Amino acid sequence: MDGPLHQLEQYRSQIQSQLQLWMPQGDRKTPVMDAMRYAVLNPGKRLRPILMLEMAKLWRKNSELILPSACAVEFIHTASLILDDLPCMDGAEIRRGQPTVHRVFGEATAILAAFGLILHGLQTIHQNAISLGIAKSKIGRLFSSILQKLGIQGMIMGQSLDLQADTLTSSMIPYINYCKTTTLFEIAIEITSTLCKSSKLQLQEALLYVQNLGQAFQLLDDLIDMLGSNILSNKDLQHDQCKSTYPRIYGVAATLENIQNLVEKAMPLLAKDNLLYFLAQDILQQAKKLS
Ligand code: IPE
Ligand code: IPE
Ligand code: MG
Ligand code: MG
Ligand code: MG
Repeated sequence: MDGPLHQLEQYRSQIQSQLQLWMPQGDRKTPVMDAMRYAVLNPGKRLRPILMLEMAKLWRKNSELILPSACAVEFIHTASLILDDLPCMDGAEIRRGQPTVHRVFGEATAILAAFGLILHGLQTIHQNAISLGIAKSKIGRLFSSILQKLGIQGMIMGQSLDLQADTLTSSMIPYINYCKTTTLFEIAIEITSTLCKSSKLQLQEALLYVQNLGQAFQLLDDLIDMLGSNILSNKDLQHDQCKSTYPRIYGVAATLENIQNLVEKAMPLLAKDNLLYFLAQDILQQAKKLS
């Protein structure tokens, strides 16, 4: 087997070219189209599409069939970052190593680009499911779950609670992190499961994996925000200082212990030579290096 870092690089370059292919195509060159391309094509880790393609592979399915949906999840994720960076939200200056979308294109275009990406992402998932001949009832159930998890029972609720940091109790942090971050990981897995026709057991195991991974991922992100070096980072750090993040409330040692527990809980279904195993271990290694 190629090393995991090499595999990740291969996935990233495959996803980068597929993103160009599945981007919204318009007859006109407009600022909103430029903003969407800018946001999506600047280099991200592509973690969510990688999870989808690797999970399909684990289920012995042809991962190429779900490439449009893997790109669609990245469109939706990118939209969430555009909104998260706005001056009225986190007020970020740098994202993916470049000035944030609103700084380049203005706030109005940034908001429109985010909505455009979400809607285009949803449409792409729908078309992908139809073209694979998935039953309408299954597509309906999938969309009901996607919309719930993007909405007030998921990402929107998480981002809203995140803004009310001063009125929150610390016990709400896992719930906020679940809503704002893990729900999109769950969406990625549910789409993969529907399109690959996985068994219920495979879906349950994969959800357990991403539920733990998602929590650990947000804790690492919060640790990086608190302790990371601005020189090495591709986004603003020391930015969520006024937020009730786990490391700011419970400290670095407790955060590391929590990440360790989550990573251990994510592992049972995975062989050690699996890329999903590596991704979970890597979160722990990065957290250890920082602490
Ligand atoms: C950032 O996501 C937002 C969080 C949920 C922590 P990523 O860290 O995956 O950002 P990109 O896609 O690599 O830019
Ligand atoms: C963002 O969390 C979560 C979503 C975009 C839904 P953060 O605010 O911690 O993400 P970064 O650190 O700006 O990437
Ligand atoms: Mg935020
Ligand atoms: Mg932010
Ligand atoms: Mg952060």
